[in-house]
Amino acid sequence: MNVRLNSSLLACLLVCTVAAADDALRARNDAIIVRAIERMPGYDYSQDKHVLDAINRHLSRSVGSADYVALAKRFRPEDMPERLAEIISSGLNDSVKVEAADVLCGVEGGPQLLAEMLECEPVDPAAQDPSLEDLPAQHRAAQVAGLLGNLGNETARELLGKVVRDETQPFKVRSRAISGLAKNGQGQNLILQLARSGNLVPDTRLLAGGLLARSNNEKIRQRAAELLPQPQLKDQKPLAPIDELAAMRGDITNGQMLFRGVATCANCHLVDKFGKEVGPDLSEIGSKLSREAMYTSILDPSAGISHNYENYVVLTDSGQVITGVKVSETPTEVVIRTAEAIDRRIPQAEIEEIKKSEKSIMPENLHHTFDQKGLVDIVEYMASLTKK
Ligand code: HEC
Repeated sequence: MNVRLNSSLLACLLVCTVAAADDALRARNDAIIVRAIERMPGYDYSQDKHVLDAINRHLSRSVGSADYVALAKRFRPEDMPERLAEIISSGLNDSVKVEAADVLCGVEGGPQLLAEMLECEPVDPAAQDPSLEDLPAQHRAAQVAGLLGNLGNETARELLGKVVRDETQPFKVRSRAISGLAKNGQGQNLILQLARSGNLVPDTRLLAGGLLARSNNEKIRQRAAELLPQPQLKDQKPLAPIDELAAMRGDITNGQMLFRGVATCANCHLVDKFGKEVGPDLSEIGSKLSREAMYTSILDPSAGISHNYENYVVLTDSGQVITGVKVSETPTEVVIRTAEAIDRRIPQAEIEEIKKSEKSIMPENLHHTFDQKGLVDIVEYMASLTKK
């Protein structure tokens, strides 16, 4: 019994080893055939079933690996767009992914697949939290935008241009697309064109202007200075562009001191119940906004006003002008919260005119109350305010 069991085990092992050896041998042969074909650029192998099978086996063995991209480029298998898309979303290194994106731009159906990978659920500007379900999609889209930014071909430019015009897409993705476009002259010109025609979503104007200010083309630098001016510190001292600011690290304690003190942020924002509530509660802002977005909120507050906090200007029949965030509205009265966090109840009957302001109630040039280091410290403080 024992002997029989052992011998059948052995037989099984033998068969398996032979099969494995067979597979390894076949893989080696396939690789040799593929390499030979690669060295014969003009050779039409499409009629040779033996060769075709070898190529297909070799391709399917390399799916998901760096080798696949070069092989797919040469042999153009039918399912190559999907397989390349998988590589782009994989954990392979960026050089391989950029190459895969480059090939994908040039195959039928490729740009469509890239467009799908770039697209996220529309974001609701009024939402306090970004939808958690969509975070992986946002992360992937931002990554794809970053990869396309390295290509500089027309397809990549078109795809990125579409993203930066679409205000329903998250800031994280649009800002990566801007950075990508800004990497070459044609992309820079596209950004200028969008800025001039008013098609650049306002919250990326600062980032775009800062990137174009470093173009090696003097004309582009000049046009950017006109169309996308950069903020300055008080006394016209230069301020680093926001992509550079976002890479800096600051001092949380000093940031908190400024936030509660001279910078006046706490006059309008609550953090862990400290402060006043004119604008959104910032207790978890570090989980919600990237550093780029925080710098944009401070330096260009009117660029992306969220629907819940639109600023209104009310003119009463007695000639009073009251400005602030609309807290509530009923058929009989409107409640406006002013910048000093005072609620003004205004009877509808006394309202001569009420209109929405283009400007945020959050003051411009708040950054004139501190220097660049202070700004970096405040953002460091906000970045530390994450979900408990
Ligand atoms: C006069 C009131 C006021 C002051 C002062 C103020 N803010 Fe704001 N802030 C607002 C309002 C209102 C909003 C929301 C509407 C908008 O975006 O304009 C806002 C939005 C923000 C946002 C975006 C929040 C989000 O969820 O997207 C950040 C970040 C922010 N402020 C930071 C600051 C910092 C930092 C300071 C101090 C340097 C500051 N604020 C000073 C009123 C103010």
